[in-house]
Amino acid sequence: QKIVILFSGEGSNMEAIIRSLHKKEFEGFQVHVVATLTNNPNAKGIERSKELGIPCEVIDHRAFESREAFDAALAQAILAHRPNLTVLAGFMRILSPLFLRQIRAINIHPSLLPLFKGGNAMQESYLSPMKVAGVSVHYVSEELDSGDLIAQEAVGKIEGESFEEFKARLHSLEHRLYPEAILRVLKEKVTL
Ligand code: GRF
Repeated sequence: QKIVILFSGEGSNMEAIIRSLHKKEFEGFQVHVVATLTNNPNAKGIERSKELGIPCEVIDHRAFESREAFDAALAQAILAHRPNLTVLAGFMRILSPLFLRQIRAINIHPSLLPLFKGGNAMQESYLSPMKVAGVSVHYVSEELDSGDLIAQEAVGKIEGESFEEFKARLHSLEHRLYPEAILRVLKEKVTL
Protein backbone atom coordinates (compact mmCIF):
# COMPACT_ATOMS: atom_id res chain seq x y z
CA GLN A 1 0.00 0.00 0.00
CA LYS A 2 1.37 3.37 -1.01
CA ILE A 3 0.93 6.63 0.87
CA VAL A 4 1.95 10.22 0.16
CA ILE A 5 2.40 12.65 3.07
CA LEU A 6 1.73 16.41 2.80
CA PHE A 7 3.12 18.87 5.36
CA SER A 8 3.87 22.59 5.71
CA GLY A 9 6.12 22.97 8.74
CA GLU A 10 7.99 20.87 11.27
CA GLY A 11 6.95 17.53 9.91
CA SER A 12 7.12 15.72 13.25
CA ASN A 13 4.01 13.71 12.38
CA MET A 14 5.46 12.90 8.97
CA GLU A 15 8.57 11.57 10.72
CA ALA A 16 6.53 9.49 13.17
CA ILE A 17 4.53 7.97 10.30
CA ILE A 18 7.65 7.12 8.29
CA ARG A 19 9.38 5.62 11.32
CA SER A 20 6.48 3.43 12.33
CA LEU A 21 5.05 2.38 8.95
CA HIS A 22 7.52 2.76 6.07
CA LYS A 23 8.68 -0.55 4.61
CA LYS A 24 7.01 -2.45 7.45
CA GLU A 25 4.90 -5.55 6.92
CA PHE A 26 1.31 -5.58 8.25
CA GLU A 27 -0.98 -8.58 7.90
CA GLY A 28 -0.27 -9.25 4.27
CA PHE A 29 0.78 -5.86 2.97
CA GLN A 30 3.72 -3.49 3.19
CA VAL A 31 3.39 0.24 3.62
CA HIS A 32 5.50 2.48 1.39
CA VAL A 33 5.74 6.20 1.89
CA VAL A 34 6.39 6.90 -1.78
CA ALA A 35 6.81 10.66 -1.47
CA THR A 36 6.39 13.67 0.76
CA LEU A 37 5.14 16.99 -0.56
CA THR A 38 5.17 20.49 0.86
CA ASN A 39 3.82 23.88 -0.20
CA ASN A 40 6.47 25.65 1.89
CA PRO A 41 10.04 25.87 0.52
CA ASN A 42 11.26 26.79 4.03
CA ALA A 43 9.56 23.94 5.88
CA LYS A 44 11.83 22.24 8.40
CA GLY A 45 10.27 18.93 7.43
CA ILE A 46 12.02 18.94 4.05
CA GLU A 47 15.36 18.09 5.66
CA ARG A 48 13.72 15.56 7.98
CA SER A 49 12.15 13.80 5.02
CA LYS A 50 15.44 13.61 3.13
CA GLU A 51 17.24 12.30 6.22
CA LEU A 52 14.66 9.55 6.43
CA GLY A 53 15.39 8.64 2.83
CA ILE A 54 12.13 9.90 1.30
CA PRO A 55 12.40 12.46 -1.49
CA CYS A 56 10.39 15.62 -0.79
CA GLU A 57 8.77 17.60 -3.59
CA VAL A 58 8.18 21.32 -3.09
CA ILE A 59 5.20 22.93 -4.80
CA ASP A 60 5.19 26.53 -3.64
CA HIS A 61 1.58 27.79 -3.58
CA ARG A 62 2.84 31.36 -4.05
CA ALA A 63 4.00 30.49 -7.55
CA PHE A 64 0.37 29.94 -8.65
CA GLU A 65 -2.21 32.48 -9.64
CA SER A 66 -5.15 30.82 -7.95
CA ARG A 67 -6.02 28.18 -5.39
CA GLU A 68 -7.45 26.06 -8.22
CA ALA A 69 -4.18 26.20 -10.18
CA PHE A 70 -2.16 25.22 -7.11
CA ASP A 71 -4.58 22.42 -6.22
CA ALA A 72 -4.44 21.09 -9.79
CA ALA A 73 -0.63 20.95 -9.70
CA LEU A 74 -0.69 19.36 -6.27
CA ALA A 75 -3.23 16.75 -7.32
CA GLN A 76 -1.18 15.92 -10.40
CA ALA A 77 1.99 15.50 -8.32
CA ILE A 78 0.17 13.22 -5.88
CA LEU A 79 -1.58 11.12 -8.53
CA ALA A 80 1.74 10.54 -10.33
CA HIS A 81 2.64 8.31 -7.35
CA ARG A 82 -0.64 6.38 -7.52
CA PRO A 83 -1.09 6.32 -3.73
CA ASN A 84 -3.81 4.36 -1.93
CA LEU A 85 -4.08 7.19 0.56
CA THR A 86 -2.93 10.81 0.94
CA VAL A 87 -2.01 11.82 4.48
CA LEU A 88 -2.12 15.46 5.62
CA ALA A 89 0.27 16.08 8.50
CA GLY A 90 0.29 19.76 9.41
CA PHE A 91 -0.57 20.78 5.85
CA MET A 92 -1.75 24.36 6.16
CA ARG A 93 -3.67 24.88 2.91
CA ILE A 94 -7.40 24.46 2.44
CA LEU A 95 -8.08 22.03 -0.39
CA SER A 96 -10.73 22.71 -3.02
CA PRO A 97 -13.64 20.40 -3.90
CA LEU A 98 -12.01 19.67 -7.26
CA PHE A 99 -8.91 18.37 -5.46
CA LEU A 100 -10.94 16.29 -3.03
CA ARG A 101 -12.91 14.66 -5.84
CA GLN A 102 -9.64 13.18 -7.12
CA ILE A 103 -7.75 12.48 -3.91
CA ARG A 104 -8.75 10.43 -0.88
CA ALA A 105 -7.14 12.21 2.04
CA ILE A 106 -7.08 12.08 5.82
CA ASN A 107 -5.95 14.69 8.36
CA ILE A 108 -4.93 14.97 12.00
CA HIS A 109 -6.23 17.74 14.23
CA PRO A 110 -5.11 18.52 17.79
CA SER A 111 -8.51 18.64 19.48
CA LEU A 112 -11.52 16.49 20.18
CA LEU A 113 -13.48 17.41 17.07
CA PRO A 114 -16.02 18.85 16.53
CA LEU A 115 -14.63 21.11 19.28
CA PHE A 116 -11.98 23.69 18.42
CA LYS A 117 -11.82 23.53 14.64
CA GLY A 118 -9.29 25.72 12.84
CA GLY A 119 -5.73 26.85 13.34
CA ASN A 120 -5.80 27.66 17.07
CA ALA A 121 -7.03 24.34 18.38
CA MET A 122 -4.25 23.65 20.87
CA GLN A 123 -4.46 27.06 22.47
CA GLU A 124 -8.25 27.09 22.62
CA SER A 125 -8.28 23.65 24.10
CA TYR A 126 -5.57 24.58 26.65
CA LEU A 127 -7.49 27.67 27.73
CA SER A 128 -10.92 26.04 27.80
CA PRO A 129 -12.49 25.01 31.11
CA MET A 130 -12.71 21.40 29.87
CA LYS A 131 -10.96 18.73 31.94
CA VAL A 132 -9.91 16.74 28.87
CA ALA A 133 -8.18 17.51 25.59
CA GLY A 134 -7.27 15.23 22.71
CA VAL A 135 -6.51 14.46 19.11
CA SER A 136 -8.70 13.48 16.14
CA VAL A 137 -7.96 11.82 12.81
CA HIS A 138 -10.60 12.39 10.13
CA TYR A 139 -11.30 12.16 6.42
CA VAL A 140 -10.77 15.45 4.63
CA SER A 141 -13.98 16.97 3.35
CA GLU A 142 -14.83 20.32 1.81
CA GLU A 143 -15.58 21.95 5.14
CA LEU A 144 -12.51 22.56 7.34
CA ASP A 145 -11.91 19.95 10.09
CA SER A 146 -15.35 18.45 9.55
CA GLY A 147 -14.98 15.13 7.70
CA ASP A 148 -15.93 11.76 9.22
CA LEU A 149 -13.86 10.73 12.21
CA ILE A 150 -11.50 7.77 11.96
CA ALA A 151 -9.86 7.86 15.38
CA GLN A 152 -10.01 10.02 18.46
CA GLU A 153 -8.24 9.87 21.78
CA ALA A 154 -8.61 12.01 24.88
CA VAL A 155 -6.07 12.92 27.54
CA GLY A 156 -6.76 14.50 30.91
CA LYS A 157 -5.60 18.02 31.56
CA ILE A 158 -2.95 18.35 34.27
CA GLU A 159 -3.34 21.17 36.74
CA GLY A 160 -0.56 23.74 36.52
CA GLU A 161 0.77 22.33 33.26
CA SER A 162 2.38 24.94 30.99
CA PHE A 163 1.19 25.39 27.41
CA GLU A 164 4.53 24.01 26.18
CA GLU A 165 4.14 20.84 28.23
CA PHE A 166 0.53 20.47 27.12
CA LYS A 167 1.55 20.82 23.45
CA ALA A 168 4.33 18.28 23.85
CA ARG A 169 1.89 15.77 25.34
CA LEU A 170 -0.61 16.24 22.53
CA HIS A 171 2.17 15.88 19.97
CA SER A 172 3.35 12.60 21.36
CA LEU A 173 -0.23 11.37 21.37
CA GLU A 174 -0.48 12.39 17.69
CA HIS A 175 2.70 10.51 16.85
CA ARG A 176 1.21 7.28 18.16
CA LEU A 177 -2.41 7.77 17.07
CA TYR A 178 -1.80 8.83 13.46
CA PRO A 179 0.16 5.76 12.31
CA GLU A 180 -2.46 3.53 13.98
CA ALA A 181 -5.29 5.34 12.22
CA ILE A 182 -3.54 5.20 8.83
CA LEU A 183 -3.10 1.46 9.20
CA ARG A 184 -6.76 1.06 10.04
CA VAL A 185 -7.77 2.90 6.86
CA LEU A 186 -5.33 0.90 4.72
CA LYS A 187 -6.59 -2.38 6.15
CA GLU A 188 -10.19 -1.49 5.38
CA LYS A 189 -9.19 -0.89 1.79
CA VAL A 190 -7.51 -4.31 1.64
CA THR A 191 -10.56 -6.06 3.07
CA LEU A 192 -12.87 -4.32 0.65
C1 GRF B 1 -0.07 18.99 14.42
O1 GRF B 1 -0.35 19.42 15.71
C2 GRF B 1 -1.34 18.64 13.69
O2 GRF B 1 -2.36 18.18 14.52
C3 GRF B 1 -1.73 19.94 13.07
O3 GRF B 1 -0.52 20.56 12.72
C4 GRF B 1 0.52 20.12 13.57
C5 GRF B 1 1.65 19.65 12.71
O4 GRF B 1 2.82 19.39 13.44
N1 GRF B 1 -2.64 19.71 11.96
P1 GRF B 1 4.06 18.68 12.73
O5 GRF B 1 4.44 19.53 11.50
O6 GRF B 1 3.67 17.30 12.34
O7 GRF B 1 5.17 18.70 13.75
